[in-house]
Amino acid sequence: MSHQTPTRTQKTRLDLQAAVDRGGRLVAVTAYDAPTALVADAAGVDIILVGDSVGNVCLGFENTLPVTMAMMRHHLEAVARTRPKAFLMADLPFMSYQTGAEDALRNAGELVRAGAQAVKLEGGPARVTAIRALVDAGIPVMGHIGLTPQAVHSMGGYRVQGRDEAQAVQLLEDAKQLEGAGCFSVLLECVPLELAACVTKELDVFTIGIGAGPHCSGQVLVFHDVLGLLEGPGPKFARKYMDTFGQMVTALTRWSGDVKNGVFPGEQESYNLTEAVSARLAARVSGAGSPAPAKRRKGP
Ligand code: KIV
Repeated sequence: MSHQTPTRTQKTRLDLQAAVDRGGRLVAVTAYDAPTALVADAAGVDIILVGDSVGNVCLGFENTLPVTMAMMRHHLEAVARTRPKAFLMADLPFMSYQTGAEDALRNAGELVRAGAQAVKLEGGPARVTAIRALVDAGIPVMGHIGLTPQAVHSMGGYRVQGRDEAQAVQLLEDAKQLEGAGCFSVLLECVPLELAACVTKELDVFTIGIGAGPHCSGQVLVFHDVLGLLEGPGPKFARKYMDTFGQMVTALTRWSGDVKNGVFPGEQESYNLTEAVSARLAARVSGAGSPAPAKRRKGP
């Protein structure tokens, strides 16, 4: 087999597992386009997830349900073009895998062709057949249980999952089934920290938590929540490290004021003619004895 000379070192799922086995914690963040991916990679995160949260975070939908494969692919391609060093993965959107293993294979294959090194899908034992098919096809799969946003209607809203004993035991069983089906990792969303700790202890593969406490092998957050790109306090489980929304509004308001007050653009944001050309042009527009300016031709 011939190899292309590698021009970058991108993390692999084995690097991630090895880091956890050495006692490290993994950092994952969502990214949806080239600028967010470049920031995430410059910050040295381990995993970039092109999440289907693109629907509510970037595309103005109320939830993730309207997100299609075409949308996921469009955003994944933008992220992949930045050639990140982070492990790059993407969500399989609603109804791209719930309909069976064949659809899961076709759609996951599309995401891998677009640059994803793994896919994430939501659900427990009902997904085992699809997960096995993907793993058999050489596509690494991260399972996602707990609060699964694509099942918002059957959950009756976005609520913490696994609070009572029966639910907690079920979630632990689900996690084991996902591992047994071949998932390289399990993401736990909005579950009590004691349950997430228990799942993390019981599994050999690493866990990634969001709203699942500090005992998971790693943490993931939505880019816009960490950086405060959206107005308002954000979800309880996120921590805002910057008020980017506020800073952007302040900056844009200053620029707007400069435009209205005639302070922008100034000399340094403008271009000049040479003095000679400028003088001849001035003579033309002042009119006296000078030929009328040539009529602009149509076209370029
Ligand atoms: O799409 C998303 O943002 C997710 C989160 C759990 C990180 O899946």
